[in-house]
Order: sequence, then structure tokens, then C-alpha cells
Amino acid sequence: MKQPIGVIDSGVGGLTVARELMRQLPKETFLYLGDTKRCPYGPRSEEEVRAFTWQMVNFLLEKNIKMLVIACNTATAYTLTELQETLDIPVIGVIEPGARAAIKFSRNKRIGVIGTEGTIESKAYPNALFAIDQNIRVNGLACPPFVPMVEDGILAGPKAEGIVSNTLQPLKEMNHIDTLILGCTHYPLIKDLVQKEMGNHIQVISSGEETAREASLILAYHKLLEKGNESPIHEFYSTGDIEKFRLVANSWFEEPVQILKSVQIEHVPSSA
Ligand code: SIN
Repeated sequence: MKQPIGVIDSGVGGLTVARELMRQLPKETFLYLGDTKRCPYGPRSEEEVRAFTWQMVNFLLEKNIKMLVIACNTATAYTLTELQETLDIPVIGVIEPGARAAIKFSRNKRIGVIGTEGTIESKAYPNALFAIDQNIRVNGLACPPFVPMVEDGILAGPKAEGIVSNTLQPLKEMNHIDTLILGCTHYPLIKDLVQKEMGNHIQVISSGEETAREASLILAYHKLLEKGNESPIHEFYSTGDIEKFRLVANSWFEEPVQILKSVQIEHVPSSA
């Protein structure tokens, strides 16, 4: 029996990781759950993010997933270790893969990170970067307006350009970075705007590609790779406005999403 891979995010941002997972693992079936109703997670307390994340995880465990990808930086920052220690399936997040990708690209070892308040305050990126190279200099900037903008489907145009320009101003003034990590899975949806604002001399990194590579290696290591030739049918679940979700998903994937369901997860247990 085909066993799916679960992907969770606070909303539509994790679709940027899901797309890369589907590209690198075309035989695998994915179940994506976006907690759009309670998005953003960035300004929420660690306790709340942990409880909401467990509800998403328990919802997907009921569907017999063989691996879990936490495609949300805030949830990764607060729950990755706990989930890895508790679940008996492989669990990966997006922070370490993003850090590895940035180190690969940076020449001057000065790396910028943009993310939600929660991710920046958690220092999860500096910790992941320093674990690889203690000489890295890191400048972090929280960008709270970005997630609501992306969830509202505002991905281009003068309004989006204005918000991106104003929000990134402090980072431009900090200067000298040569690499910028999009430390929130919503941000790849506005990567072009960020790149334009920061300039082409800055390498802008999204962790999706590296995360998918890691997922592939881990599946191979655990002998969990799908071998059949049947085309997978992915399923998408959203706790909030389904049409808003469809709009963003269809603009991000080459084909319209086939199975998209509205779900309630407030009643699901919020712990192990
Ligand atoms: C959020 O819910 O605030 C953003 C998700 C992320 O941190 O990647």
C-alpha cells in the first residue's frame, strides 16, 4: 500500500517546499495540511505554536504518513527536536537545510536571515549556521507584514513592492551580507520582489530545494522510497478559507490542485 508523506505549515507558504518535494520525489504521494485559519504562527507564543503543530501532526498521523516534513520555519524552530524524539517516523524541518544552502553560497560569511518574529527570536538560524561554521556573521530581521500579505494572495504589484521595500530597509542599511535566507516558507512566493529590493549581488536562498534533497536521502536510508509506477494523487487540507488557498496553490503549481478539503483540527489532541 502506498504510504504518503505529510507536509505541514501554518498556511500556504509550505506549498513552496511541497512543490520542490514533488519535483524531486515524483513517485511519492503528499498530504499537505495548512493551518490557514490560525495563520500566522510567527507572532504566537511558543506554547501555542507547539499545541497547534501537534494538532496538525496528530491529524496526519491518523492518515498513516511514513515521514513528516515541517514546512514552516516557526514550527520547526519550536517543535523539531521534540517531534524527532517522540515520533517513530522520520521528521525533518526547513531550518538546517536552509542554513546549509546559505553556507554553500556565501563567500564573505555574512548571511542575512528574514523570518517571522518567532523564528528570529528563537535564534534557530544563527544556531544552525554556527553549528556548521563559527565564523559566520548573521543579521536577522523579522518581517511581520509578509505572511499576511502572502496569505491574502498579494504577491506582486505596487502594494506588495511598497511593503517589501519598507520592511527590508533596516537590512539594507546593515549591509555587507552577500547571502539572504528566506527564513519563512511564505517568502519564496515573493522572492522576485525581495531579490529586486536587495539587488542582484545578493544570493537569495529558499530552503525548499535543500529540504527536498534531505527528504530524499532520508527516505532512501530508511528504505521508504516509493517504488511503484502509479501516478500519485496528492491531497491538500486547509483549516481556513479554501478558495484563497486554491488561488495561491494554483498560481504556484503547474496544474490545478485536484483534492482540496476544508478541515477542522481544533478537537485533535494537542500533544503526543
Ligand atoms: C507564519 O505562520 O508566521 C509563517 C510560517 C513560517 O515561519 O515559515
